[in-house]
Amino acid sequence: MEKVQIMVKNQEQTSLLANKIARHLKGNEIIFLQGQLGAGKTFLARSLLKALGFEGEVVSPTFILQSEYQANLPVLHLDLYRLEHGEEIDDLGLEEYLDNYVWLVEWADRFPRNLPEPDLIISLFIEGEEERRIILQGKPWIRSLKNDDFGN
Ligand SMILES: Nc1ncnc2c1ncn2[C@@H]1O[C@H](COP(=O)(O)OP(=O)(O)OP(=O)(O)O)[C@@H](O)[C@H]1O
Ligand SMILES: [Mg+2]
Repeated sequence: MEKVQIMVKNQEQTSLLANKIARHLKGNEIIFLQGQLGAGKTFLARSLLKALGFEGEVVSPTFILQSEYQANLPVLHLDLYRLEHGEEIDDLGLEEYLDNYVWLVEWADRFPRNLPEPDLIISLFIEGEEERRIILQGKPWIRSLKNDDFGN
């Protein structure tokens, strides 16, 4: 797996990164969003949905667990924070989202064994009020995401 690190200085740069990522998505991708509370997983998910052409409201799925969106590609947004056991994932009936959907899974690292293998893992680390270190791991195309495009 390729690994790329991007330092973003503010939310606009996180959105810019989301735009660059979205250009590579074709549907049928499993994306893990990892990082502590407030790292920006939901912010990045919202930015990806916007980049994929979804114009409506994106709710944080923390309490509702899953939501789906029909953007230019269909998107399944999951947040596993409130689950206690990985087996609960097996009861969600997620198989129906395996064709076509882009999965954006917050807190996926809690239960990787109950999820499909990720195509892309995005880990966010808080470095300052708006500064985030973002590590991408996955397919070779992530090498086209250059840290210097973000002023670094
Ligand atoms: N560069 C940045 N990228 C993303 N979010 C940022 C950035 N700078 C500041 N923020 C702020 O950090 C917060 C991130 O909140 P968000 O809900 O996305 O976190 P989360 O990782 O989903 O947390 P949770 O684990 O509670 O779901 C938002 O208030 C956002 O505006
Ligand atoms: Mg969140």
